[in-house]
Amino acid sequence: MIQENISLKPYNTFGIDVQANRFAQANSMEELIQLIQTTPDQTYFILSGGSNMLLTQDIENLVIKLNLKGIEIVAENDDYVVVEASASEVWHDFVQWTLARDFGGLENLSLIPGHVGTTPIQNIGAYGVEIKDTMVRCKALNIKTLEIEEFTNAACQFDYRESIFKKEAKDQYIILSATYKLTKRNHVLHTNYGAITKELETMGVTTPTIQDISHAVIAIRSSKLPNPTELGNSGSFFKNPVVSNELFERLQAKYPTLPFYPVNDAYTKIPAGWLIETIGYKGYRIGDAGVHDKQALVLVNYGKAQGIELKKLSETIQNEVFNIFNIHLEAEVNIF
Ligand code: EPU
Repeated sequence: MIQENISLKPYNTFGIDVQANRFAQANSMEELIQLIQTTPDQTYFILSGGSNMLLTQDIENLVIKLNLKGIEIVAENDDYVVVEASASEVWHDFVQWTLARDFGGLENLSLIPGHVGTTPIQNIGAYGVEIKDTMVRCKALNIKTLEIEEFTNAACQFDYRESIFKKEAKDQYIILSATYKLTKRNHVLHTNYGAITKELETMGVTTPTIQDISHAVIAIRSSKLPNPTELGNSGSFFKNPVVSNELFERLQAKYPTLPFYPVNDAYTKIPAGWLIETIGYKGYRIGDAGVHDKQALVLVNYGKAQGIELKKLSETIQNEVFNIFNIHLEAEVNIF
């Protein structure tokens, strides 16, 4: 059923109040295809969890809200289980589903907002783990042929917050499901990320389980990152920039406390949050648009910010960071 003049505020985690002229839910693949076929020349707008987008204007095209649900074990042996989750499963609920069954691999990715379907698009990652480490394949609808295609892990061309779905396959597919290979025993724990080690110590845990790691991650994220149901946000607004070692060394000489992650012989990744904090924007607020006071990488909507105000704020930050550090911050969030 197509509804008219629907506010998209409840459907984006920034809580931006723009209108969809026409809005429909796709509760199955068949409904999705039917809706697509009602629109000429692929003029529709796919909405998933709405957790990685900044809406700056009303949407003229038909907004199709994906609502594809289901979790299924598709293969298993004594060591591994292979689980396929449909695109609209809420990511954190899915992670909890795996942990309740003692399936290991996704615990470090607890509490990331959004739905399963977006995980392969931007290769979500946190605390030393990325989705590319466990995702074996995903299924996607080719919007031209309306056929389902399968992408193996390698075909997804994963990189830091990157995949084929943000490059040559951009806007050509709708992810329908993703399949993960998880451990049933001999879980591989990733606890070397500084904050996790510290949190496990605080929790008094010496031999952590995957559930302990999830609890630690939830505690860390909750202390730094705002809960979108309380304060509108889209997680990290920018990617952490990867700079040449030459530029990095010049910066390090000037700012000895600059945190960094070596990438390879030629490049180093620098936390954008540090750059933004260093130029004084942490906790900054203009109207209802702001920079989170505990993590400068996160832009927040204090209530009635318009998308365009948040976009302007992001551009001001980009300009200032560029002027001071000669580094271009790339938005991680999709801006419409
Ligand atoms: N930092 C600051 N000031 C800040 C924020 C961070 O100085 O305001 C410094 C921290 O002190 C630390 C470093 O920057 O030395 C890294 O900070 P943090 O561990 O919080 O991680 P991040 O690099 O800012 C990335 C991801 C997050 C993910 C965390 C943990 C990106 C763009 N962001 O943030 O992902 O949760 O690592 O792994 O890579 C997301 O993508 O939405 C997201 C939240």
